[in-house]
Amino acid sequence: MKNINNFNLSIAIPKGYLFDECIKLLRSSGYDVSNLLKETRKLFTFSQKDNFRYVIVRPMDVPVYVEQGACDIGFAGKDVLVEMESNVLELMDLKNGKCRVILATLKDCIEKVKAHYEHFGSIKVATKYPNIARKYFDKKGMQVEVIKLYGSIELAPVLGIADEILDITATGNTLKENNLVEMETVMNSTARLVANMVSYRLKYKYINSFIRNIKSALGK
Ligand code: PRP
Repeated sequence: MKNINNFNLSIAIPKGYLFDECIKLLRSSGYDVSNLLKETRKLFTFSQKDNFRYVIVRPMDVPVYVEQGACDIGFAGKDVLVEMESNVLELMDLKNGKCRVILATLKDCIEKVKAHYEHFGSIKVATKYPNIARKYFDKKGMQVEVIKLYGSIELAPVLGIADEILDITATGNTLKENNLVEMETVMNSTARLVANMVSYRLKYKYINSFIRNIKSALGK
């Protein structure tokens, strides 16, 4: 029986839209992802072949597990890294998982929201990125009420609990299907490979070899 603490690297994999991109990249880098693809509620798994432990977590939790050292490396969107302000090393821009953090409102409300902006009235912004939202509006000198939600942000203006949303968009389908229109782009985001500061020194050999394989799969 293999000792479950005896692995070369512990790797945080985000659930959600980056999951498939991560699997694709790991596979094309020559790693065995078969256990990651098994339909199971198990939240961590091992690759005996590569001697890796994979930990499957919510996207916002990737920098937390990496910063705390439970994972040596992980995959996280730049949006998440900016929001969480975690103390992790950003090793590589993987250039995939492209999305934008945007402000959007209901088609019918665009004039109302603009008027609020112009007259410095307070508006309600629903988001899962409260830090990014506060900083963005602070910089503009605008007063907003930030409503923190954990998902399906597009519902907030539809159900009348917010004037606008600050969220990510990739294909734009969710905005369209919920009658929302973009107002501004706040930032662009792509997936990044991040590392724990200590692991980067202590496990340099393994991390470096991982980076080399990823780079060669990406043709860099
Ligand atoms: C994200 C985001 C949008 C949607 C945008 O949600 O918060 O709702 O994807 O993607 P699109 O532009 O391609 O339609 P996610 O799927 O992560 O689910 P969540 O709302 O539960 O966080």
